[in-house]
Amino acid sequence: MSQIEKVNLISLPRIFDQRGNLSVVEGNNHIPFQIRRVYWIYDVPGGEVRGGHAYKKLNEVIIALSGSFDVVLHDGKECRVISLNRSYYGVFVPEMIWRSIENFSTNALCLILASDRYNEQDYIRDFNTFTDIQNNPE
Ligand code: TYD
Repeated sequence: MSQIEKVNLISLPRIFDQRGNLSVVEGNNHIPFQIRRVYWIYDVPGGEVRGGHAYKKLNEVIIALSGSFDVVLHDGKECRVISLNRSYYGVFVPEMIWRSIENFSTNALCLILASDRYNEQDYIRDFNTFTDIQNNPE
């Protein structure tokens, strides 16, 4: 299986209620890892792009809690774009996927669940370095 095929749009549970709907995500249940960190991106000015890197080991799930944006994914060979605009979908992004988040709507709120704590050493921030690693495995 190619790395991009491991990217997965996860449909989270929805509990409908006249008082307002509820969704939930549990680590190692709805998503395939234990959640060790949660961060969110907000107040993104029009036209800005977040991300633009890959992780060597980190797995993430990206959720559009509010508003909309595009998750742009690349495994060194293939590209895939997933547009999110509902709070009950999550994009599972495994390690070694180049990803950026673009086309944020006004008031978009991007929630990211991560499999580990923040570690700058786990980042690959240069696209050519990333494609070299992907296309020339040991
Ligand atoms: P970065 O991951 O590059 O942001 P994005 O992928 O959204 O463009 O992080 C931006 C800055 O925030 C970086 O200098 C380090 C800091 N940061 C933390 O301190 N902890 C975190 O969990 C994250 C994700 C970032």
